Amino acid sequence: MKLVIGNQKTYLNSEEINDFIRETNGNEGVIVCPSYLYIERYINNSKYTIGAQNVSVKKNTSTTGEISASQLKSMGVKYCIVGHSERRTMYNETSKDLVEKINRLFEEDIKVIFCVGEDYERKERGMTKEFVTTEIKEVFDKLDQDKLDNIIIAYEPIWAISNGITPSRTPLNEEIEEVTEVIKKLVYNTYNKELKVLYGGSVNSKNVDELNTISVVDGYLIGGASVKKDEFNYIMERCK
Ligand code: PGA
Repeated sequence: MKLVIGNQKTYLNSEEINDFIRETNGNEGVIVCPSYLYIERYINNSKYTIGAQNVSVKKNTSTTGEISASQLKSMGVKYCIVGHSERRTMYNETSKDLVEKINRLFEEDIKVIFCVGEDYERKERGMTKEFVTTEIKEVFDKLDQDKLDNIIIAYEPIWAISNGITPSRTPLNEEIEEVTEVIKKLVYNTYNKELKVLYGGSVNSKNVDELNTISVVDGYLIGGASVKKDEFNYIMERCK
């Protein structure tokens, strides 16, 4: 069994989201992170456990356009993505910002889906392990160590996100396995925790069966395929 988390980004409009909710076979073990606008519709439907894609670094205060952790909690949100590469690069989110966001989420007992992953240049230079280690340490070292159990890590190589180039069987599935093992060892040896580590980056119905053979991977963070009804139904079925 693998954990399935859908990161729906800004993909679906109001009508399409109703259709998606109606025609997918969710269950509470599957987490969907819809646009903020649709959280209430998902909650009312109760087919899925709900996550958010982002949270404010601030508590409830004068911050136009932001959504706070306590607002998410009050809507019934149970998880939140932090450190997605799209936010790190497009909105210059730093490790310091991520620590603040995670602290806000911990205060509200919302679990964290913490994303790490290298870009293509670093991969080519053989820096993947060093880079994800730094991304984890810069944040984990600054958090309340007693709360680290509330984090799921998602390893998402930036070069594999949203482009359909999924790492193929050899050697790249081995690469996913190797990096996942590095992350698990780091978290165990440094923080004495055994956390779930997911893979993300162009997971779809065509590669999920092959990815499922990597036993060290605990599940998937899925973007594009999490808004296509048939794709998502298939993936959920194969990960039960
Ligand atoms: P993708 O996105 O599945 O479309 O590559 C994954 C993600 O960005 O979390």
